[in-house]
Amino acid sequence: MKNTLTIKNLHVSVEGKPILQGISLEIKSGEIHALMGPNGSGKSTLSYVLAGHPKYKVESGEIWYGNTNILALKPEERAKRGLFLAFQYPVELPGVNYQNALYTMTKARRNLPPKEFQAELKQCLEKLNLDPSFIQRHVNVGFSGGEKKKAEVLQLLLSKPSLAILDETDSGLDRDALEIVGKAIQELRNKDFSSLIITHYPKLLRYLNPDKVHIIMNGRIILTGDNATIQKIEQEGYAWCGDE
Ligand SMILES: Nc1ncnc2c1ncn2[C@@H]1O[C@H](COP(=O)(O)OP(=O)(O)OP(=O)(O)O)[C@@H](O)[C@H]1O
Ligand SMILES: [Mg+2]
Repeated sequence: MKNTLTIKNLHVSVEGKPILQGISLEIKSGEIHALMGPNGSGKSTLSYVLAGHPKYKVESGEIWYGNTNILALKPEERAKRGLFLAFQYPVELPGVNYQNALYTMTKARRNLPPKEFQAELKQCLEKLNLDPSFIQRHVNVGFSGGEKKKAEVLQLLLSKPSLAILDETDSGLDRDALEIVGKAIQELRNKDFSSLIITHYPKLLRYLNPDKVHIIMNGRIILTGDNATIQKIEQEGYAWCGDE
């Protein structure tokens, strides 16, 4: 089906160590899914594999996006097809002007003339309550933890991807910033957009009302549920998950 993400029995290792051990997942266009699970369970590994990070070795399994086997594509080709990853730990790029980087990143995905880019950038900065001086700095250098996360959301808004994987974008955001980001992502919800939201907390998910919630433990999805699952994890942690 058009722009459905389908992961089939995916096994991935890092430096010889098996991390993902048979992940299967389907996210249809228009859907927002949440991925929750304990530290070290494989959430970021899955996001890196989807983006095409070379360090993560796919031992077996398949990843399809629409009719395309994306495992055969380089990271930039995946981006061109609409995939976007917001990093759990955004990287600092000393010496790289943020505004220039944003334009290059946006142009790699969309055909946007400089003037229109400037107009959109201004709007997005306002939406995220970011000062215009922010983009005159070097990429992520000296940004606070929350500013780095907002910077990822700024890239998301400018990129207009069809599939966004957001790896703990809510971590480090203050209460008001969380609301701004939650509403900005919610506004992206439409039939041609899908998202996998990786998080430890229910707060961001309250704005997004995910269609499904997957629980990953030890590299396997052991449970798929809904909002009630999020509440139960908030109250009881993960110990009960394997029993369901
Ligand atoms: N380069 C690496 N070398 C060795 N082990 C690694 C490497 N990268 C990841 N791992 C291991 O893979 C496991 C899964 O890591 P991952 O970052 O995917 O977890 P996570 O679910 O995102 O956790 P968190 O909630 O803390 O972000 C961890 O045990 C981690 O130590
Ligand atoms: Mg992680």
